[in-house]
Amino acid sequence: MELRHLNINDSCYYYLVEKGKRIYVGKEKPSDEELQDLMKLKPQITDKNIIELLQDVQKEKNFISEEDLIRLSQNLDIPLIKLTGVASFYKSFKTKKQGKYKIKLCNGTACNIKHSPELLNYIETKLNIKSGETTKDGLFSLEVDNCIGACARAPACMINEDIYGNLTKDKIEKLIEDLK
Ligand code: FES
Repeated sequence: MELRHLNINDSCYYYLVEKGKRIYVGKEKPSDEELQDLMKLKPQITDKNIIELLQDVQKEKNFISEEDLIRLSQNLDIPLIKLTGVASFYKSFKTKKQGKYKIKLCNGTACNIKHSPELLNYIETKLNIKSGETTKDGLFSLEVDNCIGACARAPACMINEDIYGNLTKDKIEKLIEDLK
């Protein structure tokens, strides 16, 4: 077996290679001792390994394309179905191109009782997209979340990394217009 590595964005992944077959190891370079153990154990690819890998891919362009998944599958000998399964299971992974501004409207209990569904309708109408979609000009993506941790300021939303609370239709209108 041979230890190799692959760089993905800023991260380095280490692999054991045996008879041309790559066995995923992980981000940490194993010590000589660990390497001996790994060689005995022949580690398998776990969902945790795949999650880390996909997070790194997504970090760069905010989504993971079909081409990315195919490339990873071919380069790392991970079944495409396994990669696609993990990428589609976790909501945090986006397999479609995202807008420059990602609006995450909260519809958790605290926000819901303060009329977040009405705000959702308003944003959908204003941007002419449904939740999960991106505007044609690539400026806005919209999604709904269960809680963004700003319950005291409900109803709330996140736009990229910023939180906006005590939302009203007027406030949302202004936020969108300012971003345009
Ligand atoms: S329920 Fe909306 S921020 Fe917590």
